[in-house]
Amino acid sequence: MDYDVADIGLAGKGDLRIEWASRRMPVLAAIRARFEKDKPLAGYRIGACMHVTSETATLMYTLVAGGAEVALCASNPLSTQDDVAAALVKAGIPTYAVRGESADDFYRHINAVLDTQPHLVFDDGADMTTVLHKERSEQAVLGGMEETTTGVIRLKAMADEDVLRYPVVAVNDSDTKHLFDNRHGTGQSSLDGILRASNILFAGKRVVVAGFGDCGWGIATRAKGMGADVIVTEIDPVRAVAATMEGHRVMTGEEAAEIGDVFITATGNIHVFRAEHFEKMKDGAIIANAGHFDVELDLIALDEMAVSRRVIRDNLEEFVLPDGRAIHVVADGRLVNLGAAEGHPADVMDMSFSDQALAAEWLIENATNLHAQVYKLPDELDNEVARLKLEAMGGSLEVMTPEQIGYLGSWEHGT
Ligand SMILES: NC(=O)c1ccc[n+]([C@@H]2O[C@H](COP(=O)([O-])OP(=O)(O)OC[C@H]3O[C@@H](n4cnc5c(N)ncnc54)[C@H](O)[C@@H]3O)[C@@H](O)[C@H]2O)c1
Repeated sequence: MDYDVADIGLAGKGDLRIEWASRRMPVLAAIRARFEKDKPLAGYRIGACMHVTSETATLMYTLVAGGAEVALCASNPLSTQDDVAAALVKAGIPTYAVRGESADDFYRHINAVLDTQPHLVFDDGADMTTVLHKERSEQAVLGGMEETTTGVIRLKAMADEDVLRYPVVAVNDSDTKHLFDNRHGTGQSSLDGILRASNILFAGKRVVVAGFGDCGWGIATRAKGMGADVIVTEIDPVRAVAATMEGHRVMTGEEAAEIGDVFITATGNIHVFRAEHFEKMKDGAIIANAGHFDVELDLIALDEMAVSRRVIRDNLEEFVLPDGRAIHVVADGRLVNLGAAEGHPADVMDMSFSDQALAAEWLIENATNLHAQVYKLPDELDNEVARLKLEAMGGSLEVMTPEQIGYLGSWEHGT
């Protein structure tokens, strides 16, 4: 053995963590091998604003293998793995991120990356894009990539208002991203975050999941699998019916507030649980947010209502209300899976980040034909990522016979 994890410094620990993640990202490894040969990103500078995790590091190394010059900053003040940031710096990738950084530092770091004059921008939540549009409107950018639902919503609003300045690929909207990352990644890792912070038993708890989109589906499904009684709150009737047919009760936040033990938001919306809900919650209730921004829980209202607050465990803060009830907030109401755990497992980021790498290559190849709009990654690339993932997982696909192709392509058959 070369070294022991207990004996090495921060960057060494980061290296090991990145190595561990890379082993679980076979599709990205295949893309990296091809990039190393073909250098499709040679001559391009990339500025990335993403969660600084071991999986992101693996993506950064893939982009560098493709010939790009890369600089990285955090897309959330609480999601940086400091050992990974140190390893990236040691490897020569400028990385501006410290876990727990202030809002000022967060934006200073975004500007530091933008000072490298990137041709391509990789964003997660559209904060870097917003700075480019509000404060650096003269800076030329070839195109962008967006990782998450909230970022895509912001970009589409910019395109609708005709203010978007360059084409962006909504990587989130690829099937190989949102059907797996948002569902299985957020589902498992959000519960992981709550468990690490609280060590509660999910079996027998009433878990209230706000929002039954891809992330909410994942969280609710995993919580049910762990023996929880799951309650869903929704504003969309179709999603509410879907939750009901998965066996969850659907009710208003106000009704759920009275009976829930654990509350998890995954809506992309603001103040989903607020003063009127905190008024009703049981003593000992735990609240957490899995949505992109830390606005889903109204923690300013909770702070105003509280007579005292203290950090009771790592990533778990207790707010005591005047009547003695305690409400516990996980990871300051920031993305619970990244704040209190390690984010999505590498196995699922393999597909999301393969989509990112292929999106960059596609955008460069097609830049002259693209407009300042939000694009989806072409289906062939999405399917290619799925095909490689299936192969890596040991599955194989059925191939249609000529007869079957003819049958599905004709309308003349019947009973
Ligand atoms: N934690 C993570 O690692 C992670 C990963 C992927 C996405 N996200 C973020 O999670 C959020 C949700 O993503 P998604 O892909 O599930 O989005 P989605 O649009 O598929 O689902 C959001 C759901 O919330 C519902 N909703 C909106 N306002 C509501 C309210 N006030 N009360 C109850 N329900 C409400 C919507 O009707 C919708 O069904 C986004 O902010 C996204 O960026 C986080």
